Amino acid sequence: MYKKKQTVEVEIIDLGEKNQCFGRLEDGIAIFVQGPAAVGDVVQAEIFKIKKKYLAARFLSVVKPSPHRIDPVCRYFGLCGGCKWQHMDYTEQLRLKRKQVQDALEHIGGFKEIDCAPCLPAPDLLGYRNKMDFSFTDLRYLTSEEIDIEPDQHEKPVDFALGFHAPGCFSKAIDIDHCDLSTPEMNITLNTVRRFCLQHREELPIYSTHTHTGELRNLVVRHGGHTGEFMVNLVTSTHNPELMQKLCETLKNALGDRLTTFVNNITSSKNTVAFGEKEYVLHGPGTITDRLGDYTYRISANSFFQTNTTQAETLYNQILDIARLKPEDIVYDLFCGTGSIALFASGHCRKVLGVEVVESSVNDARENAKRHEVENCEFIRIDLKDIADIEAEMREFGHPDVVITDPPRAGMNPKAVKMLLKMAPPTIIYVSCNPASLARDGQMLCEDRAYRLVECHPVDMFPQTNHVESVARFERVD
Ligand SMILES: C[S@@+](CC[C@H](N)C(=O)[O-])C[C@H]1O[C@@H](n2cnc3c(N)ncnc32)[C@H](O)[C@@H]1O
Repeated sequence: MYKKKQTVEVEIIDLGEKNQCFGRLEDGIAIFVQGPAAVGDVVQAEIFKIKKKYLAARFLSVVKPSPHRIDPVCRYFGLCGGCKWQHMDYTEQLRLKRKQVQDALEHIGGFKEIDCAPCLPAPDLLGYRNKMDFSFTDLRYLTSEEIDIEPDQHEKPVDFALGFHAPGCFSKAIDIDHCDLSTPEMNITLNTVRRFCLQHREELPIYSTHTHTGELRNLVVRHGGHTGEFMVNLVTSTHNPELMQKLCETLKNALGDRLTTFVNNITSSKNTVAFGEKEYVLHGPGTITDRLGDYTYRISANSFFQTNTTQAETLYNQILDIARLKPEDIVYDLFCGTGSIALFASGHCRKVLGVEVVESSVNDARENAKRHEVENCEFIRIDLKDIADIEAEMREFGHPDVVITDPPRAGMNPKAVKMLLKMAPPTIIYVSCNPASLARDGQMLCEDRAYRLVECHPVDMFPQTNHVESVARFERVD
């Protein structure tokens, strides 16, 4: 009965898997709507997929707005995939973030009994990011209005973009000149670097993901949320000393003494991750510092650091709160980055072992412990897939009472979960930026009733986006 391209009207009643809005048509068939709809909206949508049990459709327009609908602040809303929830009020964003974690734990992890705590809100809803990673592409993403314009008639070149990848498309970027989650310095840098690179297009061609030739890869900016220190990191394929010096002067002119350091990272990698193999420091110390609680951290261009400074403190306090450390405890901080959780925990336990694969992060972690005269933390470089290495280290350091694990989005490698099960610490605190990974790894931990999930606290590190962090406590079943 339904046809592709047919327009239907539907009330959005819930948010389904993968954050797709969900409703039912008059005959009861489920319909998933892609695009900026909100729960409570009545929308018009165009069907693009017809299955026996459900339809998939694209959002067209709002017929009757949800009471939670608000006007998005960003001019790129709906185009850029970053802030997918700017059209919902903050109370609704928090409700949906908690629901996301609860649903993943129930449906993916099989945790039927768990009742997640309310999502902890962030104090700053805009301008909160301390790091931005802008991509260069030689294909600018064109809007539906732009697509029919002749290439030489466009206001901006079609073969140059500096901004964010278009959703689901790594070869194109939306050329942006302002991001509301960035600080003013980041936006100034974005536009200064764009102007400079457009002026030097011959010498600085954009790296092509098709031919794997060209220079410009990423512009990464980092801002110490509590210190105001500012780093610009241009990631290129090779180092051009003369041009980088010129760009350095241009940045100093634009930012004055707000520029703490400028580095040029070089990568030969064919993928789009902004990670340098060699680094040239053109201005300042090559690192910045930021503060979390009582600790000041040194941060290098390639080191991981929580991207929302104020909310990282909330997250770490939440970790400490549910870890309930005792003075005699031995703690492991797995995936420790620059050692920030380890330092936070160091005053509450006997000693901490931080484990991390990125060399510069381990060096930063050691330096961070040294500068605070923290003597009960050790940091080692280990790939957590290499079980033998961690087992050897464990024999030397002592068996952990509490393991805090904070893996990347994809979660832990199954080998690492098995290693945790073998280690069998009485308490595991799992910190996760991906509810599905938490649910999957949590299920593995609780298989054969080895552990039980006791509590879970969602924390909003990224207002306006559909991302949510959570902190969960697993206890060994003895
Ligand atoms: C989500 S970050 C957590 C960092 C830190 N806990 C914090 O709060 O700042 C994940 C960290 O895991 C590290 N990592 C990724 N894969 C790894 C692996 N196989 N072995 C060890 N560390 C890894 C990354 O370099 C990154 O620093």
